[in-house]
Amino acid sequence: MSSERVLEVEGLTCGYGQRAVLRDVSFEVGEGEFVGVIGPNGSGKTTLLRAVTKVLEPSDGRMLLYGKDIRGIKLVDLARRVAVVSQNPEGGFGMTVEEFVLLGRVPHRRKFQFLETKHDEYAAERAMALTGTLQLKRRYLRELSGGERQLAFIAKALCQEPELLLLDEPTAHLDIAHQIRVLDLLKRLNRGDRLTVIAVLHDLNLAGEYCDRLLLLKDGRVHKTGLPEEVLTPRVIGEVYGTNVVVGRSPVSSKPYVFPVPEGI
Ligand SMILES: Nc1ncnc2c1ncn2[C@@H]1O[C@H](COP(=O)(O)OP(=O)(O)O)[C@@H](O)[C@H]1O
Ligand SMILES: [Mg+2]
Repeated sequence: MSSERVLEVEGLTCGYGQRAVLRDVSFEVGEGEFVGVIGPNGSGKTTLLRAVTKVLEPSDGRMLLYGKDIRGIKLVDLARRVAVVSQNPEGGFGMTVEEFVLLGRVPHRRKFQFLETKHDEYAAERAMALTGTLQLKRRYLRELSGGERQLAFIAKALCQEPELLLLDEPTAHLDIAHQIRVLDLLKRLNRGDRLTVIAVLHDLNLAGEYCDRLLLLKDGRVHKTGLPEEVLTPRVIGEVYGTNVVVGRSPVSSKPYVFPVPEGI
């Protein structure tokens, strides 16, 4: 793990009302890491991202962002360093892509500053260029396909110029070309700009292919964390998903690949 710790989660317990969804969750993410959060439906992946972004208040445990307790960090200061692409993001439908992407600059505005600065415009252009949405900039969000809209949401997050990017199933509902495009972009930013990435990923093979490390949740607890080859084993997948799989290797990258075993074979 690299030297600086971006995020330290210690004994986090968090849920909705009286019901704890996450229980005693602990993990660390170092600067420049690309961490994948995986686990069955309802295992608490989205809840974990909500806790890190202060949408939910933990009932126990603590979280440190760059060594500082996030309870003491104001939301606007958090948004200067951390950007989020939510699962099924909504809103912005009446805006053009460019207007929407520029919203990413709001946390960086000074009080009573209403006009975009040159840097705001630069950041928006760069974010749209990186995500391939520049040619869509005058189109309305409501007129875009699901894949194009997802790219616009990622562009807004990049326009925020975060140090830590959180994404909740950014490739869900995308075709394979869009999936690879999004993950290649995240990898390039992670490697080139040392952007720290934590992505909830549904697809175990994409998670194994792109992530340095995986955090596997089961029923709101960390079941296993480690390198993709340590986490994506038939035994661990059987324990967590209750399903029978065979794990091979990608002939290209040698990363683990999970093959389902249909009943009766
Ligand atoms: N807003 C909410 N209110 C109450 N319970 C919720 C809410 N959101 C999620 N849950 C519950 O929390 C558990 C974990 O959900 P979630 O974090 O969304 O899982 P995942 O993202 O891994 O599919 C589920 O049992 C879900 O029903
Ligand atoms: Mg979820």
